[in-house]
Amino acid sequence: MLKIAGLIKSFGALRALDSVSIEVAAGAIHGIIGPNGSGKTTLFNCITGLLKPDSGTVHLADRDITGQRADLIAGMGIRRTFQAGKLVPSLTVLENVMAGVNDSVGKAAVDTFLRLPFVASRRERDIESRARRALAVTGLEASADRWSADLVWTERQLVQIARALVSDPKILLLDEPASGMGRKETEKVEEIIRVVREGGVTVVVVSHDVKMLMNLSDTVTVLNFGQKIAEGSPEAIQKDPRVLEAYLGAE
Ligand SMILES: Nc1ncnc2c1ncn2[C@@H]1O[C@H](COP(=O)(O)OP(=O)(O)OP(=O)(O)O)[C@@H](O)[C@H]1O
Ligand SMILES: [Mg+2]
Repeated sequence: MLKIAGLIKSFGALRALDSVSIEVAAGAIHGIIGPNGSGKTTLFNCITGLLKPDSGTVHLADRDITGQRADLIAGMGIRRTFQAGKLVPSLTVLENVMAGVNDSVGKAAVDTFLRLPFVASRRERDIESRARRALAVTGLEASADRWSADLVWTERQLVQIARALVSDPKILLLDEPASGMGRKETEKVEEIIRVVREGGVTVVVVSHDVKMLMNLSDTVTVLNFGQKIAEGSPEAIQKDPRVLEAYLGAE
């Protein structure tokens, strides 16, 4: 479904991604773990077109999407959330989720869409009902009309997921979706991710939370200093000496 081959990305002398290759199977939940600064977010940025890799390729099914524009990649069905991502505080929860439709065509279009009264109302109603469905997946349907500024941290994280879901993505990339959450809230996020996958979406999850990723993932990739140091089933990864070393060395 998603094939990353030999991806390299440097920032000056720092190699944030050092020839990383990962294959994400269709319908999978694929976890990516690694210590701080190991290149997880940079990987997402290279996949989604926010950064151009120095070399290597990214394929979506058979299509080479390497270095394409972010809006085009989003339009092909790869959607993401941002680590500690922000919502527009002056919009309601529902409006924030609806605006996710336009993430594929950039910020200007969001403004145009939300402000111009002559935008086809049918399209708007359609987007609204999709946004309400996405909110229902994250358990926030009753919060649709609240102001985003009034949400607590956990709710904001969930709205981000709903916002990424509103366009029916093929692949959802989640960057630390449960950061700053307690165990109970994290389990809720795990459950949401499972429901999303049941709906036919392939999910790639970046997390520091080893327990969460081991619970959730079909396959786990471990990054350390920009390199893939291990990959396999959660059971195999937990016993892998390279992984134990990377984590023990880092903490
Ligand atoms: N735009 C940038 N310019 C310069 N250096 C960067 C940039 N983005 C990331 N880096 C560096 O690249 C390395 C990888 O960063 P990245 O954000 O991908 O790590 P991460 O695994 O997501 O870390 P974390 O767990 O803290 O989110 C880090 O050393 C970081 O400082
Ligand atoms: Mg990161």
